[in-house]
Amino acid sequence: MCGIVGYVGRAEATPILLDGIRRLEYRGYDSAGIATLEEGVISIRKEVGRIDKLVEAVARNPIGGTTGICHTRWATHGKVTRENAHPHQDRSGKLALVHNGVIENYASLRAMMEGEGHRFLSQTDTEVLAHLIGRAFDRSAVRTREVLVDAVREALTKVTGTYGIAVIHSEFPGLIIGARRGSPLVLGIGKGEYFLASDVSAIVAHTRDVVYLNDYEIALITAEGFTLSTVQGEGAASHVTKVEMTEEDTGKGGYPHHMLKEIHEQARTVADAMRGRLSHEEATAKLGGLNMSNAELRAVERIVLSGCGTAFHAAMVGEYLIEHLAQIPTECEYASELRYRNLPMTKDTLVFVLSQSGETADTLAAMRESRRKGHRTLGICNNVASTIARESDGGVYMHAGPEIGVAATKSFTSQVTILVLIALLLGRIRNLSSAAGGRIIEELEALPSLIEQVLKLEPVIERVAKRHAHAKVMLFLGRQYNYPVALEGALKLKEISYIAASGHPSAELKHGVIALVNPETPSVFIAPHDTLFSKNLSNIEEVKARGGPIIAIGTEGRSEELAKLCDDLILIPDAPEILTPILTSIVLQFFAYHIAVELGCDVDKPRNLAKSVTVE
Ligand code: F6R
Repeated sequence: MCGIVGYVGRAEATPILLDGIRRLEYRGYDSAGIATLEEGVISIRKEVGRIDKLVEAVARNPIGGTTGICHTRWATHGKVTRENAHPHQDRSGKLALVHNGVIENYASLRAMMEGEGHRFLSQTDTEVLAHLIGRAFDRSAVRTREVLVDAVREALTKVTGTYGIAVIHSEFPGLIIGARRGSPLVLGIGKGEYFLASDVSAIVAHTRDVVYLNDYEIALITAEGFTLSTVQGEGAASHVTKVEMTEEDTGKGGYPHHMLKEIHEQARTVADAMRGRLSHEEATAKLGGLNMSNAELRAVERIVLSGCGTAFHAAMVGEYLIEHLAQIPTECEYASELRYRNLPMTKDTLVFVLSQSGETADTLAAMRESRRKGHRTLGICNNVASTIARESDGGVYMHAGPEIGVAATKSFTSQVTILVLIALLLGRIRNLSSAAGGRIIEELEALPSLIEQVLKLEPVIERVAKRHAHAKVMLFLGRQYNYPVALEGALKLKEISYIAASGHPSAELKHGVIALVNPETPSVFIAPHDTLFSKNLSNIEEVKARGGPIIAIGTEGRSEELAKLCDDLILIPDAPEILTPILTSIVLQFFAYHIAVELGCDVDKPRNLAKSVTVE
């Protein structure tokens, strides 16, 4: 949420910063700004709207210099205006700062400084932080970079909340100071040049050698090198990591949108989620990253799965899977609720947090709270360098590659695949026979080719999507494994097409939702040929009796009755019940995508949203 890029070196900073910030646009896109430092003068350009607007503004009114910082904003405090766009400056105008996160006590700090005569130009918490640092620095007669770092330290000890910041000061050409608490920051090491970014994808075009800052670390960066210390004033060691991601991984690969590219990647990403993790010999999954012996896994009596949004929906599928295959009582909880809830948990409760980014603020907080209570807490993450990946007691990586489309797609199917592996592993050290385990392994191995078949359905799904694109309201209904898919299908549709959509267990219709059914409101039934297929058919009849249009997802060769009842039918290949959520969710990803395209919506950057929600 929000993106930061910084550069210090010998090259012109502006093109590097603008290219980097473009790659972070999915993190927030309501306004953007840049500040560069040249001959002791800071020049700033800011624009409301997309990065293109900023690029145009800089082209009209160029700024030079080999040091600079840049930001793309997702508004938290203060409306979307030029004044509220970053960078913000201190009272002297000599310091410029960009910030991700939220300064929770900004109001009292602002009031305190207003009492001292400070005037603020924006409504943001960030400007308060800029003033706070400048105020600390300007109290000192000694003007060295070390004193400036001390001023950053002093200010950061006064704030509560989260921050990832980059600071420049006109008295110190060729210097950037970065610091983080709760918002990611990565330092890129080039030859005679250094980069700072909130996300490595902004800088992989320049370097693969990076240092991930830890919470409470401050980096002092020049073209000659960098030093790390802590907010408390202690030294900090740096660990250089080689980034695996390439520049191509972050592109659209010839597709018109990242979302479409990512939908089409799923045969591979699902295969990657299970690669090297299936043992035919033992008819089970091998998940060494859990860091738990079979005896420890055998002792688990309860499981809590937690995440936000799409990750929460994947967790819900996991609840069904683990209870079905391993018979362990399992519960899902939104991370935003879990973190503040006093959920009674026995000492044998195992907690999984699911997060594509590994940086979602609520999920991170739920993980920390659960660990603080002494529960073993494992992560299911895509981003291997993320805070959840680093702080959890272990976990399973998704290996899905960067997900840039704001709407999560491949991360959902990878998470569900991993949950099948976890359920299989837990089941096999309990009651699941080796024959049953072996069967699941074979089914998993066949899954990528079933996904390929679903991907070929795109033209059919596109036609159905176009027919219903102008609906104002849509209902998504499913049972058991496909109830979370109904929630996910509704979420995909509303977030990228702005159609009011809601997901429900099919049987809940008659408890209220059916009041919404009318000839203008399509109901999407996820009704593959599973154990409750006939029950779904009855619910479809109820909608049909009331004149509601019906779109159904059924199973190829096993959907004759369904075909008689629905207006549109999309047939997935026959698949084991536990794996149907992976196939049906892909159908609904295409469905939402093509509706959004038909409506002319900005698929990869839906309104009001941003990838990776790092604020509470
Ligand atoms: C929906 C979507 C969000 C995320 C949620 C969690 O398409 O993308 O609902 O799933 O913000 O994000 P992660 O998985 O990064 O924790």
